[in-house]
Amino acid sequence: MEDLSLYILDIVQNSINASASLIEIHVQEDIENNKLILSIIDNGKGMAPQTVGKATDPFYTTRTTRKVGLGLSLLDAAAKASGGGVTVSSELGAGTGVRAEFEYNNIDRPPLGKIDDTITVLVACNPSIDFIYTHTTPKGSFTFDTREVRQKIGDLPIDYPDVINWIGGYIREGLNVICGGGSV
Ligand SMILES: Nc1ncnc2c1ncn2[C@@H]1O[C@H](COP(=O)(O)OP(=O)(O)OP(=O)(O)O)[C@@H](O)[C@H]1O
Ligand SMILES: [Mg+2]
Repeated sequence: MEDLSLYILDIVQNSINASASLIEIHVQEDIENNKLILSIIDNGKGMAPQTVGKATDPFYTTRTTRKVGLGLSLLDAAAKASGGGVTVSSELGAGTGVRAEFEYNNIDRPPLGKIDDTITVLVACNPSIDFIYTHTTPKGSFTFDTREVRQKIGDLPIDYPDVINWIGGYIREGLNVICGGGSV
């Protein structure tokens, strides 16, 4: 069983491949309704209506290096195995949204994993892309936005090692507050 963080890396890679300049990652731990909702929204090139429905099909891919596209179909399988599913919405030229829903307490729901490291790595490896990460739990909400970081650091590049270290610490601290230090 893989961590949801690894699925996030994979789905965000689709957004990067679609030339997105802004990628939003939202995690909602809606324990009251027994749901964990993961949404990844980008402003990339989008998909035509006839391909949106096929996006979670493993035999649909616009890859040229192999005939299967596994990212969305694996996420869909993981979500279905834990009582949920994946919805893809997309508009050509505007962007794409992927929403994965899981039963929070389902034994087969993958754990979130090291989401702080995942977000930090995404920022470090894609310095020209802006990321918004929000995480909501019953204890509160946390938001991280690279556009705000860029304003604070002025001329420093966002992938400068000290900036990346700061980002990692900032996200960890924020998650400690809303997750109570416990791992989800
Ligand atoms: N965010 C997105 N924007 C535009 N097109 C997308 C996006 N996500 C997926 N697609 C389209 O859906 C197809 C299937 O995506 P999926 O992640 O399942 O497989 P893949 O990216 O082709 O291969 P893999 O993930 O195994 O490397 C992609 O080839 C692409 O055409
Ligand atoms: Mg993919």
